[in-house]
Amino acid sequence: MSTSSSELHVVLGAGQIGPRVAAGLVATGRRVRLVRRGRFGAELPAGVEPLNADVLDPAALAAATAGATTLYHCVNPLYTEWPRRLLPLTNGIIAAAEAAGAHLVVLDNLYMYGRAPGGVMREDTPLAPCSRKGALRAEADAAVRAARDRGVAVTVGRASDFIGPGATQAAVFGERFWPRLLAGKKVEVMGDPDQPHSYSFVDDVAAGLITLGTDPRARDQLWHLPANPALTTRALIEMIAAAAGVAPRLARVPTWVLRGVGVVAPLLREVAEMAYQWDAPYVLDDGRFRATFGATATPWSAVIASALAWARATYAAPVRAAA
Ligand SMILES: NC(=O)c1ccc[n+]([C@@H]2O[C@H](COP(=O)([O-])OP(=O)(O)OC[C@H]3O[C@@H](n4cnc5c(N)ncnc54)[C@H](OP(=O)(O)O)[C@@H]3O)[C@@H](O)[C@H]2O)c1
Repeated sequence: MSTSSSELHVVLGAGQIGPRVAAGLVATGRRVRLVRRGRFGAELPAGVEPLNADVLDPAALAAATAGATTLYHCVNPLYTEWPRRLLPLTNGIIAAAEAAGAHLVVLDNLYMYGRAPGGVMREDTPLAPCSRKGALRAEADAAVRAARDRGVAVTVGRASDFIGPGATQAAVFGERFWPRLLAGKKVEVMGDPDQPHSYSFVDDVAAGLITLGTDPRARDQLWHLPANPALTTRALIEMIAAAAGVAPRLARVPTWVLRGVGVVAPLLREVAEMAYQWDAPYVLDDGRFRATFGATATPWSAVIASALAWARATYAAPVRAAA
């Protein structure tokens, strides 16, 4: 991998993935800026320039991205804000890349595929969203394609549900999962835990985006980022529980309960809309990325060790010193 000090990589979004991308890029000697609205804390990697800006403010975004050679779109509004903010964010970031003459790398999810035939999603799987949020992602994808057609360099990496250190906003292995698992309590699962489901390790997602932003072979195309062969959610929970030394206990949360609670809790209504993903096989095919770049997903044993170390440090009750 060649590096150049004339490159400026601007990572938009300092949530679950952005800081990992920034850390990986700065480790290769590149100049890196990380952008968010809120205050930076421990997530800011050493050597990365922090910048506060609201990406929805065109002037602030233009200032944040001036001189960028590569932009990484790792921004995400709250689920409840998607109808108002997702497309303005996407369009604003595309416009900023165009104005800066920068290569745009977009982190995307799988919602736009809907219920894929056979449950397997490849880059050429037709878009058939079956949710409001999936329809928005398909619109965002159309904006990306239109930008490419007018000459903007846009490369897209799609990932499945996150797992790993810092993935607090993950659908299953998020902030409700780890404290309950470590305490030996039942962990909540949506849909059928015995269906195969792909999960994406946060470090693999970040490393994949760096490949897309730095390897010319990736440019202007759509890629599925590396993910381990899909296991069932139950099998993965059993592996995590065994590594944690607790008994695996699952509590299935029926979709009708999520919908019912969603009447008064808008965020859960948005979660309920996506529960279909656990009713049938939901498998991300990363074969094209593997064949092209030779990169494979981190083995489950290492993913679990890394997630558990983080979860223990973050959630486990402190051990009281003996009196
Ligand atoms: N969660 C998953 O399991 C998953 C799986 C696959 C793909 N994805 C996709 O990955 C992408 C990134 O999502 P994520 O879940 O990693 O995000 P996240 O952890 O929720 O982080 C989002 C970041 O965006 C920043 N942000 C939000 N609005 C902003 C604005 N107007 N201006 C500047 N910064 C703003 C937030 O910081 P401030 O609030 O401080 O601004 C935060 O740092 C999304 O497209 C998502 O759909 C997510």
